[in-house]
Amino acid sequence: MDVITTHLNADFDALASMVAAKKLYPDAIPVFPGSQERNLRNFFIESTMYAFEIAALRNMDLAAVKRLILVDIRQADRIGPFEEVARRPDVELHVYDHHPEAPNDLQGAEGRIMEVGANTTLMLECLKEKGIELSPEEATIMMLGIYEDTGSLTFPSTTVPDYEAAAYLLTRGADLNAVAHFITNELTIDQVALLHDLIESMENVRVRGIGVVIATASFDRYLGDLAVLVHKLMDMENLNVLFAIALMEDRIFLVGRSRIEEVNVGEVARAFGGGGHATAASATIKELTLYQVKEKLKAILADLIEPQKRALDLMTTPARTIATSETLGEVGKQLTGYNIDALPVVQDGALVGLINHQTVNKAIHHGLEGSTVEDFMETDFSTVEPDAPLMVVREQIIDADQSLLPVVSGGSLLGVITSTDLLRAFQDSGTRAALLGEEVSEKSALRRKKLGRLMKERLPREVMEILRQSGNSAESFGYSAYAVGGFVRDLLLRRKNLDIDIVVEGNGIDFARRFAKEHGAKSKAYPHFGTAVVEMPGGLKIDVATARLEYYESPASLPSVEGGPIKLDLYRRDFSVNAMAVALNPSRFGELLDFFGGQRDIKDRVVRALHNMSFVEDPTRIFRAVRFEQRFGYEIGKQTLYLIRNAINKGFLELLSGPRCFTELKLILQEDRPLDVLRRVEALGALKAIYPESTLNTKSDEVFRRLREVCSWFDLLYLEIPYELWLVNSFGLVAFLNEKTRRSFAKRLRMAENHARIITRGKRLAEEVRLAFQRNAIERKSEIYRMLDPLPVEVKLYLMARSEQKELQRAISDYFTRLRDVRVETRGSDLKEMGLEPGPRFKRILDRLLDARLDGDVTDRVGEIEFVRRHYLQGNGDEAAESENAKKGLK
Ligand code: CTP
Repeated sequence: MDVITTHLNADFDALASMVAAKKLYPDAIPVFPGSQERNLRNFFIESTMYAFEIAALRNMDLAAVKRLILVDIRQADRIGPFEEVARRPDVELHVYDHHPEAPNDLQGAEGRIMEVGANTTLMLECLKEKGIELSPEEATIMMLGIYEDTGSLTFPSTTVPDYEAAAYLLTRGADLNAVAHFITNELTIDQVALLHDLIESMENVRVRGIGVVIATASFDRYLGDLAVLVHKLMDMENLNVLFAIALMEDRIFLVGRSRIEEVNVGEVARAFGGGGHATAASATIKELTLYQVKEKLKAILADLIEPQKRALDLMTTPARTIATSETLGEVGKQLTGYNIDALPVVQDGALVGLINHQTVNKAIHHGLEGSTVEDFMETDFSTVEPDAPLMVVREQIIDADQSLLPVVSGGSLLGVITSTDLLRAFQDSGTRAALLGEEVSEKSALRRKKLGRLMKERLPREVMEILRQSGNSAESFGYSAYAVGGFVRDLLLRRKNLDIDIVVEGNGIDFARRFAKEHGAKSKAYPHFGTAVVEMPGGLKIDVATARLEYYESPASLPSVEGGPIKLDLYRRDFSVNAMAVALNPSRFGELLDFFGGQRDIKDRVVRALHNMSFVEDPTRIFRAVRFEQRFGYEIGKQTLYLIRNAINKGFLELLSGPRCFTELKLILQEDRPLDVLRRVEALGALKAIYPESTLNTKSDEVFRRLREVCSWFDLLYLEIPYELWLVNSFGLVAFLNEKTRRSFAKRLRMAENHARIITRGKRLAEEVRLAFQRNAIERKSEIYRMLDPLPVEVKLYLMARSEQKELQRAISDYFTRLRDVRVETRGSDLKEMGLEPGPRFKRILDRLLDARLDGDVTDRVGEIEFVRRHYLQGNGDEAAESENAKKGLK
């Protein structure tokens, strides 16, 4: 027996090294010599204890070990019971270790010693030399190993080969999200102390209406990571502008960060003799006290941020208003008559909403002119006080895209400010004109944010290549191409998503066809929708659509049509976070287009619809809103929630067909935490539309929790057995229905026949196996195999989730990790050679051989041949019984 082991208190580097060693020695058995570290233990707990084929020490016959492979260790006193094994003269010892040499180290006959940051790095060298490939899951485990032992590549012990190994693992699909999840990077004690002082000392000062936070601290030694702490503090406290001033040894370090245009921290740092960018800068200051630096900082800020006009100076007064009870038809007339874009809505003299031309036009287009203003007015809007500075007014009108800003004092409406008023204010002021020029250029610089680096970091090389090629092709055909939607959102969120949607300004179908031809890919067109799908030679699929102007009845009613067809295409999408695009043409590659505040909503964690007709046009967006809200831990915006409630109350959901409901339910069940989504949908009163049986109850939580646990356990086994997550999660719903209702559920949603069968009969099949286990002790592996093998994988997972019995859980785990891979080596031709007559009997013989192998009665080909000879050739009882059974049709 060959055994792979590592040191006591094993960590990820040890585990990763064992996984690598198993690939070098496929027949060896990995086993931990004892306990594991906290991170690793958590990892195993979260992956429900069965992940990886690691044998239990207590089941191990140490006397049978012939070869011992040590990884990440060569000190005898750190391998627990294996010390005695390692010292036995008849045991062959192989050692793979990265620790520095020590006096009493064990010496291996083979292996590798190399002083690198992580042992995984040297294991990877061995794998690479042998040309052994890694799956993305293995790459992830190994990345965990490297990250842990090198402090995410920051410890001084990190070497060039560690970086190279990490880079190589990225190309093999290592998932950095998973790595980040399992590695907890803690701050050092000194850093915590400094951070604590900074937090304690935070002072919020207002300079010309803008909030700036100043934090101070002093420390007797120099600490290099002030910038890291400032970054952390910005995130922790969600600050817009922060200056940290820290006295360390004999000098003062100033670090500034700003997320708003009004404060350019680069300029501030320069005034202190330092430097940097508008958003991040620093300076080192001598011969001033902390207090002096702080006072000087306030004075500099006051100088750099100029005094401004106030809301009172800009507003139009008195404002025209409209009552909630008026019809949209009437509002439409007034807006056109007065040639204005929006009106404040009042009820009993109080301001309750805003209504704009664009919403009214769309509603009228949908035949809703009889509805009242109340149904479609904007209720989530901002107001300002009369003394609000210009900067705040501008923030609301331009950044928050609110074209009409009411000025309110003590609850009464004093006037309104429109974008024209704002523009006039800028024009009036000579000094502001220069500033406006600067602001415009800064603003467009902001709009021209480039994502090239992020894309390069986050996307696999081949995907990046395809995006570049798409841009090059579009350019040569005279089109513009953009990556859009969820792909862009997830890129910014740093979540893995390789569903590429491309929108073409030009002819999308023509683009897809010519692009496919240029790159040896296949394309399929859907002319009715102006869309196409391209399938690249590597299998990656790209959805292509055309940005169409004609979609809008009246594009001119949009707030602004500057931005071209892509802007209109984005405007017809569901939520701001899904309405961003990345330009692909070579001259603009990586440029982010965010017309509707998607980045801001990501920062504020809100799901926000783009216009008031969104849920009328597409009621499935109600479910989408909840999915995104729950998936990302966001909140549906106030106005968006109002629109959702309104669409539900007005019965728009009843217009959805069975298959569309099914798609929505399926997408919900595909989520990581489907029950949270379903409960929120239920609270909104929308569950009946997709799931009329509505059987969510207190027990659902437990069932869904177990299903989730089992699926993550199964995923961590890395077996690459495909399964439908939504189908597994469906059991969370149908577990409480009887078979007849289950059948009608599947039928109403028009599921495919095979899925409908699993939904209808799966529960009973699982139940039968569960009861069989409860009644008898089932120990024979062949019996376990025969019971479980015929069940669809989704039913097996449901069974695992339902079983409370340890024996059954172990049996299922055993089935997945071992039994299903057991194979018979004897072939039909072997049987023929042995003189047996071919026929249906061959299958029965091979089945019995499989059982014998499963039960360990035979272990190799020689044993199998012997088994056949004994049972089928020597005319003994088995053969007779077997043919008897065959006659009775029992086999
Ligand atoms: N979209 C929309 N309205 C819908 C469906 C989709 O506006 N009812 C748009 C959104 O811009 C979305 C894009 O089409 O981002 C792609 O849709 P889809 O692939 O369904 O959604 P994703 O955003 O990619 O979401 P997921 O992560 O769930 O796949």
